[in-house]
Amino acid sequence: MGDPPTEERLRRRALTLLQRNRRSGHSDGMGLDYAYTMPSHSMYPTQFFWDSCFHAIVLAELGDDDFARRELRSLVSAQRRSGRIPHAIFWRRDLWPPLYWAYTQSRPTPRPRLSGMIQPPVLAYAVLRVAERTGDEAFARAMLPRVRAYHDWLRRERDPDRDGLVSVVSPYESGMDFSPPYDLTFAMRPGANDVRRWVAWRARDVRNMRDRYVSARMLARYDVEDVALNSIWYEAQMSLAALARRLGEDAAAAVEDAGARKTRASLLARAWDDRARFFFLLSGARERRVPIRTAAGLMPLLLDDLDSSYVEALVGTLDDPEAFDVPFPLPSVAVGEPSFRRQETTFLWRGPTWLNINWFVARGLRKQGCDAAARRLARATVTLVERSGFREFYDPWEGYGMGARDFSWSTLAVDLVALAGDT
Ligand code: GLC
Repeated sequence: MGDPPTEERLRRRALTLLQRNRRSGHSDGMGLDYAYTMPSHSMYPTQFFWDSCFHAIVLAELGDDDFARRELRSLVSAQRRSGRIPHAIFWRRDLWPPLYWAYTQSRPTPRPRLSGMIQPPVLAYAVLRVAERTGDEAFARAMLPRVRAYHDWLRRERDPDRDGLVSVVSPYESGMDFSPPYDLTFAMRPGANDVRRWVAWRARDVRNMRDRYVSARMLARYDVEDVALNSIWYEAQMSLAALARRLGEDAAAAVEDAGARKTRASLLARAWDDRARFFFLLSGARERRVPIRTAAGLMPLLLDDLDSSYVEALVGTLDDPEAFDVPFPLPSVAVGEPSFRRQETTFLWRGPTWLNINWFVARGLRKQGCDAAARRLARATVTLVERSGFREFYDPWEGYGMGARDFSWSTLAVDLVALAGDT
């Protein structure tokens, strides 16, 4: 693994895929130029927030600096005056059937344009990576105020209890649509009937649409603090602080540093469960921990200065056959959970392995100095892609691919090759 032929082959295949899934042009409806990579040609033909961040990171890694920057510029061009950046931008009307995803709009419309939702805030990390890779200071300077405005919006609008943890108003905002802990946020048992689950999720979004996606109104009804999203939020604030410092914007850096400290402290104080020795999602204004172990609970490995007792507990679950120890980790839900499902169709994130989570966790392991565990995870991930191609998600035991084919963010495996070969 990691020897030049393997690496070269993987990089070539990744670039071919990302170029094939590319779209650019002018949107008459929005009066803006766009350039982005579709997550999948057949299933997700529009621009998605965190997908685009992943694509830009891989494109820069593959030397396609130009499109990496264009993809991020296109994403922030849809930023609202408030600072919010939509989770999906429907640049081309012809790619979607009417009414499809209309419930994500802040006004009832048969023709979606900009969603009212958010997705995990990977943007600042992506901008930092692309800026570092390309050495393009003008790009960094142009992006800085946009990302700052976005972070300010998250802090202002989505942190009602001011504890540094961003709240989601719909499970879809976590990026992990039907992840089992969300069942309990609807007072639903994980064994609940699928139709009921689907209706509950969708009713929440329709309700949010009727609330015009006004944060305070939505948060009064539903307020969930997600562990993965907030680990990413920590990394985002640290990344923006680093970018700001590099550009001599020390005051901006101080705001982000302080924000990151608060996020980190709250994750440790509130999401960590001392008995289960794991991080859990927080439900409701009373922040009830939902004790279902998912791969999201490993993401605090991205925090700096994590005490070794946390690290040992999390790393221990990687060797536990009732948790995450399978031939092709990481299962999105610990395999011993009653809600774990090996197969999935409509109800995503209830068991199979997803590449983006592996990418975060492998980097987290590396950050904590767990080099052997990081290498093992990175190797399994690269093997998965070599065997089964770039799929949306994979079977944790056999490694076969499922969901969308030619799924763009699975090219993140490219960014793990160095880690896989590292000795
Ligand atoms: C699915 C995923 C979400 C992703 C989208 C596009 O809905 O759950 O995280 O952004 O597909 O790939």
